[in-house]
Amino acid sequence: MSDMHAYRSHYCGTVTESLMDETVTVAGWVARRRDHGGVIFIDLRDSSGVVQVVVDPDTPEAFATAEHLRNECVIQVTGRVRARPEGTVNPNLATGRIEILAKDLQLLSMAEPIPFQLDEERVGEDVRLKYRYIDLRRDAMQRNLKLRYQVTRAMRNYLDDNGFMEIETPMLTKSTPEGARDYLVPSRTHPHKFFALPQSPQLFKQLLMMSGFDRYFQITRCFRDEDLRADRQPEFTQLDIETSFLTEEGVMQLMEGLTKHIFKEAIGVEFDGDFPRMTYAEAMEKYGVDRPDLRISLQLVDVADLLQKIDFKVFAGPAKDPKGRVAALRVPGGAKLTRKEIDDYTKFVGIYGAKGLAWIKVNDLSQGVDGLQSPIVKFFPDQVMQIMERVGAQDGDIVFFGADKTKVVNESLGALRVKLGEDLGMIEGDWAPVWIVDFPMFEEDEKTARMTAIHHPFTQPKATTEELEQMAQEECHQLLSRAYDLVINGIEVGGGSVRIHDTRMQAAVFRILGISDEEAQEKFGFFLEALKYGAPPHAGMAFGLDRLVMLMAGCDTIRDVIAFPKTQSAACLLTEAPGEVDPAQLRELGLRFRQMANG
Ligand code: AMO
Ligand code: AMP
Repeated sequence: MSDMHAYRSHYCGTVTESLMDETVTVAGWVARRRDHGGVIFIDLRDSSGVVQVVVDPDTPEAFATAEHLRNECVIQVTGRVRARPEGTVNPNLATGRIEILAKDLQLLSMAEPIPFQLDEERVGEDVRLKYRYIDLRRDAMQRNLKLRYQVTRAMRNYLDDNGFMEIETPMLTKSTPEGARDYLVPSRTHPHKFFALPQSPQLFKQLLMMSGFDRYFQITRCFRDEDLRADRQPEFTQLDIETSFLTEEGVMQLMEGLTKHIFKEAIGVEFDGDFPRMTYAEAMEKYGVDRPDLRISLQLVDVADLLQKIDFKVFAGPAKDPKGRVAALRVPGGAKLTRKEIDDYTKFVGIYGAKGLAWIKVNDLSQGVDGLQSPIVKFFPDQVMQIMERVGAQDGDIVFFGADKTKVVNESLGALRVKLGEDLGMIEGDWAPVWIVDFPMFEEDEKTARMTAIHHPFTQPKATTEELEQMAQEECHQLLSRAYDLVINGIEVGGGSVRIHDTRMQAAVFRILGISDEEAQEKFGFFLEALKYGAPPHAGMAFGLDRLVMLMAGCDTIRDVIAFPKTQSAACLLTEAPGEVDPAQLRELGLRFRQMANG
């Protein structure tokens, strides 16, 4: 690779034996400098890799410059490629058999001592984020961002081959309901009015279907002011998709094809056969979550029906409660867990609101109840063997129990399942994709007791408009939706649905959600109007790009695959955003702080 108008003839990582005895010019950062009694060795790094440069006193000018170099100085070196002396060859490096003997060395940019060394382990994330431009020089970060680019490139290629077209939608817009708080932008030209940054392009992409674009995609930023976690950022990137005249089956097939394509292109992983599908109800019953990690085979088993009549209230109460659940989790080989380990797991489920963690160790089933070791068996000796049979217990197992409101049991045992899988080395295989289907359409907000849409209110329920119009509020709980999620290794990487394309059905859904006609008009009037002028049946989906790349890169947080991410408290340590603004700017916007007004 040579470049006429560049500071170099070759990239560092490409200088190999094939260039033996040739003169090359390279440029990059000083990764390391070693003084070896009169000879200076420099590991020179650029985006392609590292090459060793040798400077000896025979070239006094180059030598003088090299003597004053610090790590991360930027230099340009011209020299002859020669073989490394035997014993100093590094077979793990593409450039490991050669070195460049410098004839000329120019300092292009001096570097002050850097806040941390690139190969330093355990650098605090705050420091990494403050000096992100240095952190990004690290090999791992270079690889992550390269992978991210390869993923988006593969996405674009696949979508292009399948008749999709990329169209941009506004960033300054009106609130779109995706369940989070909006980021607001005050308008100067319309005092006291605000734009909202999009939580997703949902309504615009539906409008594009009504405009006849048939297959749309966009790799775009979404903004959600919500509680942050390892896999959530206030601004994140979606691959957003919408199609006309396809059913959920058509969309899922296309998106499964896309997923397989990007895994193959970006990381060389090929999936066998179709992704499995599971209903939401089955996922909750067996795994306690709607995003099960199927690499772990442990499952929750309902046992409430066997325990309703016992005296042990901890179990009997939830067993009789229609909103309660009593579930068992059998862990093969778990009888070896110590008291301390069990206590730690009890604390762990406490995080999810569980009041305890009952357990039975299965020592010797042939002895019946006497072969079980447990503080609770004495409360239901007549039922316990039936429970052991139902969960498929074998000697050497431990069986854990959760008894509480369904939500608490699902969340606590669901999380315990994954933790045990990790702790006990029970994760099988590398990749476990699964489609989750048949989601409930609505759920009740615990605080307000109002119905909310689980996906979003533009999703089609599995019911006709007439049925929806006549449906009593209680019946709505049972209603399923035409939504689907793609889950990989326990992470929700994407979700979508078939949309409502009929004004009457949309109105019926708003009614169930308790959104009045006036409120609907005010918030989505433009959209309801658009539905009137010829809306095709349409369906779509959005992938969380950051989460996908995190999974593929094997990272624990999406921050590691985003060039300039925000902290847990939604701040940018590099730019110190959010920041204060000039009072003049506020005046122009017609805004004033309350405390300023008071003082
Ligand atoms: P949804 O809200 O499920 O659907 O978002 C789609 C995907 O985006 C990712 N995601 C996030 N990633 C990082 N940080 C966040 N804060 C965050 N929130 C969501 C997830 C999720 O699966 N408009 C619909 C899609 C549709 O119906 O077509 C939507 O936005 O991986
Ligand atoms: P207690 O009768 O409260 O001492 O509890 C007896 C056993 O049941 C202990 O092992 C507790 O950890 C367990 N336990 C208590 N509450 C629950 C619960 N809600 N779900 C599961 N196990 C529980």
